[in-house]
Amino acid sequence: HTISQPFTVPKPAFGSKSCNVTERILRNVGKNLHNNPKSPLGIIKLRIEDYFNRRFVDSNGKSEFQMFDSMNPVVSTKMCFDDLLIPIDHPGRNMTDTFYFDEKTLLRTHTSAHETELMRAGNLCFLATGDCYRRDEIDSRHYPVFHQTEAARIFKKSEVPEDFLLPDLKQCLEGLVADIFGDVETRWNPDSFPFTDPSLELEIMYNGSWMELLGCGVLRKDVLKNGNLHDHHGWAFGIGLERVAMALFDIPDIRLFHSSDERFTSQFTEGKIVKFRSFSKFPACYKDISFWVNPSFHENNFSELVRDTAGDLVETVKLVDEFKHPETGQVSKCYRINYRSFSRVLTNDEVDEIQDRVRERIEASPEMDLR
Ligand code: PHE
Repeated sequence: HTISQPFTVPKPAFGSKSCNVTERILRNVGKNLHNNPKSPLGIIKLRIEDYFNRRFVDSNGKSEFQMFDSMNPVVSTKMCFDDLLIPIDHPGRNMTDTFYFDEKTLLRTHTSAHETELMRAGNLCFLATGDCYRRDEIDSRHYPVFHQTEAARIFKKSEVPEDFLLPDLKQCLEGLVADIFGDVETRWNPDSFPFTDPSLELEIMYNGSWMELLGCGVLRKDVLKNGNLHDHHGWAFGIGLERVAMALFDIPDIRLFHSSDERFTSQFTEGKIVKFRSFSKFPACYKDISFWVNPSFHENNFSELVRDTAGDLVETVKLVDEFKHPETGQVSKCYRINYRSFSRVLTNDEVDEIQDRVRERIEASPEMDLR
């Protein structure tokens, strides 16, 4: 009983100073990788939904939870931030971190953006899965598009006491971990989110190291109020699907989720968790680039410029050298851009061409000056 909603995406004002979404980023909107039951993300989403359907059954034998997976990733700053008590000066609101259509419209940075909307529509127990977008560094675990499943369980205050909530949340999540990962060690750390109090992070011991799995907490009263719930309390969590899928399927690079190469897609079957067999890796080709930066420089802007130019051919971008001119105080940075394709050998000439386009765009940027 998943609820689907068709949605429309506004036309961005490319070039306007409050718009930093790109055509390339927008190509991901509507892909809904999480709704493909044969993709690793879809398999994980269904596993989580299945756990909730089995665990929380009402007296009629029906699941207490409503599932949502087709909500519009284009949301307002009110939904994504204000309703969740995220302060005006929170870094997550910056254009360096978030893709905006205009001052008030953006690509959701987390599925929490749907919490108050779903509450106002009368939902107390729900899962909401979707694609989220953040501007970020470039490496094998970061991609500007990722997927989350949000969960909330809310009660009338008369149904359960306040001190029921935190233990219920922890038990639910420890059960989820056991269901998905089997018998692994878990550990709770204090965390902080503007919309929950207390807030916790759950880590699991996986392949010999602690892995951050999710953030969660008891919902703040004012968030519930923004959802038109005045006599209620409850908990929520948000879990990143790529993290879980990379661990369980042994997927080494986050870009693979976006691959339509059948050597990748043919490896997965609905409902099954299997180990990914890596196919021949083609050689990498790296290029260094040095430029002066001015104080408004932000690494995420550079990352996004590279990603937007090179697409999925860029594997990593790493700062390899930094230098401050002793007299002028000017700062220069040297980055190493590593290019690699999943499906073929890149020629030096074509990488040079991409690198030239990166250089041209740096030249055109007010934040950076080529050395
Ligand atoms: N939205 C948070 C994030 O993206 C996770 C979260 C969800 C935390 C719900 C608490 C409650 O990191």
